[in-house]
Amino acid sequence: MAPEHALLDLQPTPERIRADIVEGLSQVPKRLPSKYFYDAEGSRLFEQITRQPEYTLTRVELALLEAVLPDVAAAVGPGLRVVEYGSGSGRKTELLLAGLHDPVAYTPVEISRSALTASVERLQAQFPGIEMLPVLADFTGSIELPAPVRDVRDVLVFFPGSTLGNFTHAQSVELLQGMRALLGHDGRALLGFDLDKAPAKVEAAYNDAAGITAAFTLNLLTRLNREIGADFDPDGFAHRAVYARERMCIETSLVSRRVQTVHVAGHAFAFAEGEAMAVEISQKYTRDSVATLARQAGLCLDRWWTDPDEGFALGLLAPA
Ligand code: TRP
Repeated sequence: MAPEHALLDLQPTPERIRADIVEGLSQVPKRLPSKYFYDAEGSRLFEQITRQPEYTLTRVELALLEAVLPDVAAAVGPGLRVVEYGSGSGRKTELLLAGLHDPVAYTPVEISRSALTASVERLQAQFPGIEMLPVLADFTGSIELPAPVRDVRDVLVFFPGSTLGNFTHAQSVELLQGMRALLGHDGRALLGFDLDKAPAKVEAAYNDAAGITAAFTLNLLTRLNREIGADFDPDGFAHRAVYARERMCIETSLVSRRVQTVHVAGHAFAFAEGEAMAVEISQKYTRDSVATLARQAGLCLDRWWTDPDEGFALGLLAPA
């Protein structure tokens, strides 16, 4: 990467990862933190997930974003610094930066080094007038944003992909409060929300026929073996995703296929046959549930757009 956008490296250390994993596996039921999905292979597999026929979220969100961008640009105005949480490949960013009026700077906060460097290089070539200030970090921590050279009128936080849904309610409120703090008096946050729909449709998106999502969740085990010396047997676990409609939440787990013991950092964790280890939740939303969540974080729902089938929404949140 060119030195003019040298990246601020706040990546979790192996010690941090090890402590998080031991803590998660010590809980009942056992769990693994989903932010560690995104090593280079995980980011590559996630990109493939977004192209599976059953995983409609990304395609619908891209089309919706394209359709409403003129409204978004008019609502937020010119001269913004865009801060994106979990920017991934930056496909949505490209649309957003092209559609806004004279954006000044772009700060992606992303945990995957490979995804971050590749997307920033591509975006810098495409938007030479926008200052790229990438931060390699877990966006759930407190983030100090690097200062742009040009004056910024306001902040737009961009958090697409319904990634907010990968957090518990309490964590979501905390994340939104963190965003609220970045927004000042007059900033805005543009978020993607996957909406509640028929369970069969939701479940299909997380159990694609080609098995890419299964490979993606199992890759977490391979990563932990390599990076923190764990001894998971990826063939000893099966991917499962079930939609609990009463809670509008799809829960992904890795289910132990047999009795087995896994070792991490000197600890032994015993699994029963059929024991589920929770690896991810994806909350689904309604307009009302988003408005309630926003209120709990000192924000209000300013604008709301959905695709024609009402499967996905973009919400513009403002300080309350
Ligand atoms: N934010 C995405 C979602 O909740 C991430 C995702 C898609 C995901 N498929 C997954 C996470 C499978 C874990 C497992 O839809």
